[in-house]
Amino acid sequence: MNFNDSVTKNNLARSFSAECQAGARYQFMSKLAIADQQKFISDTLKTLAKNEMAHAKVFYDHIIKMNGGSVKNIPIEAGYPFDDPILKTSLMEESKIELAEGDNIYPSFARIARDEGFPEIAKSFELVAKVEKTHFRILNYLAKLYKANKMHKRSVATEWKCGNCGNVEISKQGWTTCPLCSMPSGYIIIDFEKEEKTDPNN
Ligand SMILES: [Fe+2]
Ligand SMILES: [Fe+2]
Repeated sequence: MNFNDSVTKNNLARSFSAECQAGARYQFMSKLAIADQQKFISDTLKTLAKNEMAHAKVFYDHIIKMNGGSVKNIPIEAGYPFDDPILKTSLMEESKIELAEGDNIYPSFARIARDEGFPEIAKSFELVAKVEKTHFRILNYLAKLYKANKMHKRSVATEWKCGNCGNVEISKQGWTTCPLCSMPSGYIIIDFEKEEKTDPNN
């Protein structure tokens, strides 16, 4: 199929927009986290924003390459979220968007791309879908802890590590200020992958 007549061209443009917007929203939220002294959440959101911009670039590059150069205008009809950035609710809202992208939207775009004869583009959609599922798990985990005011409280003893000085302590509850460098608890690094394995009820 000719790329310019394909649904995939439109899907790439839509996905580019969605990734840019997610990147922007994560940067907005990252500032909110800083205002709330949640350095670790802020840093995590910055990393996610960087990931989204990298995804946007992959989709953008496909369009340029397939078209053999610049495209003047691609009209897109699609709905995009304009979520009022409030950390308590936005972490969960964003996690739902990530899950929809990872489970449904990008896998379906991948299938369409394959059907239309663009296996390389299909592969990109599949790989991005995998990353979005990881983003879902990170955001969902943080959303639950943050909303329940349990960022630094666990039901079992866990390892707390200061993201500023590297100080480590093992207890059920993290410090309010780091005993070594006095930085606030928001600097504590949360190893969500490890915690997911050790205590699924957190
Ligand atoms: Fe993304
Ligand atoms: Fe994502």
